[in-house]
Amino acid sequence: MVKKIAILGSTGSIGQSTLSICESFPDRYNVVSLAAGRNIDVAFEQCRDWRPRIISMATEEIASQLAKRLREAGLNDTEVLYGTAGTVCVATLPEVDFVVSAIVGVAGLEATYAAVCAGKTIGLATKECMVTAGSLILEAARKHNVALLPIDSEHNAVHQCMRGGETAEVKQIWLTASGGPFRNTPAAEFERITPAQALKHPTWVMGRRITIDSATMMNKGFEVIEACRLFDLPPAKVRVTVHPQSTVHSLVEYVDGSILAQISVTDMRLPILYAMAYPERPSAPSLAFDLATLSHLDFSPPDPARFPCLRLAYEAAESGPSACIALNAADEIAVAAFLDGKIPFLGIPRTIEQVLNATPSNAPASIEDVLAADEAARECAREIIAKASV
Ligand SMILES: NC(=O)c1ccc[n+]([C@@H]2O[C@H](COP(=O)([O-])OP(=O)(O)OC[C@H]3O[C@@H](n4cnc5c(N)ncnc54)[C@H](OP(=O)(O)O)[C@@H]3O)[C@@H](O)[C@H]2O)c1
Repeated sequence: MVKKIAILGSTGSIGQSTLSICESFPDRYNVVSLAAGRNIDVAFEQCRDWRPRIISMATEEIASQLAKRLREAGLNDTEVLYGTAGTVCVATLPEVDFVVSAIVGVAGLEATYAAVCAGKTIGLATKECMVTAGSLILEAARKHNVALLPIDSEHNAVHQCMRGGETAEVKQIWLTASGGPFRNTPAAEFERITPAQALKHPTWVMGRRITIDSATMMNKGFEVIEACRLFDLPPAKVRVTVHPQSTVHSLVEYVDGSILAQISVTDMRLPILYAMAYPERPSAPSLAFDLATLSHLDFSPPDPARFPCLRLAYEAAESGPSACIALNAADEIAVAAFLDGKIPFLGIPRTIEQVLNATPSNAPASIEDVLAADEAARECAREIIAKASV
């Protein structure tokens, strides 16, 4: 059966890799709806090449510009929507079987939740969904019998390794971290790290926010929270190990002492294909890994002193949902301020810590509550940055 695919975040790095998988497996996947933000040029090309039934853009103005360009090019078979309602429509279209959730930040949260409630299988790339609304999404997934298949390479690796034993037999899981560009940078130099230096990731090519989050190791912190939710484990059983080769994507340690690891190329098309094809494994020669090129694998513990964001994430995971929402919101604002040259690199964790200290602990009962808590934390972060107290 051909799976009908909706892609939330189609113009982004994950979205484009998903389309590349659809191109490689035309007999398996049919793209029916897309959602993007502001990139009209790429959205136009995707409409021209894929002829989706619906595309949604971030705002009404961008949507009408895209609609005009499509009309002028004689491409009349795609309806152009906008905003959250448009993204929800893309994700819940009746014929859609599988939704790839890859909108950066919380902009895709409502659509992802709506897709779960509509019974769609989810390929989850956007870690913010699990970090900010993990318990609500999991509850809806249980209720609607929906599979949440992780696309994030580490969780995807854990998902694969978990097929080797029962959940009750898992002692702990190990998420691998490349360590980012500052793995060996002395602590004294962290204050002077520039955006250009932080945007150079040694092994993965990704969007700007996730690249900075990798440099601070906050990305790994979000992954710890996401793993706790997805695999129903306490933070103490989700460990991080620095593995500069980014070849082992993560490991699962079982109670009998066996450790299963997943090794593959550093190419997001592989976890995307795994999630889209699950439980099958289609042949993909272009994603083959040449074991002969592997000379050694290094693993070492992360340094919490140089990467305070990781400590903050563990603290938020222990503290509960409102701290996790604040962690994500404050990080997004702080990363943007760093990229704009408004705060130094270490201003990112300092901003987040101040926001966490100011966050009351309430469990959100709905996605609206999550978004309200998210906005409150953002405002708090903006005030802290404006006072230049970081
Ligand atoms: N890239 C990776 O290797 C990787 C790996 C694991 C997990 N992830 C996670 O996957 C998610 C996407 O990452 P990415 O690297 O693909 O990011 P990205 O390249 O920055 O792409 C983000 C996508 O979100 C869209 N978007 C932003 N605001 C939107 C809005 N208001 N409404 C609708 N769409 C909006 C963007 O549209 P425009 O470009 O049109 O504005 C773009 O399509 C993130 O949560 C990231 O943490 C990524």
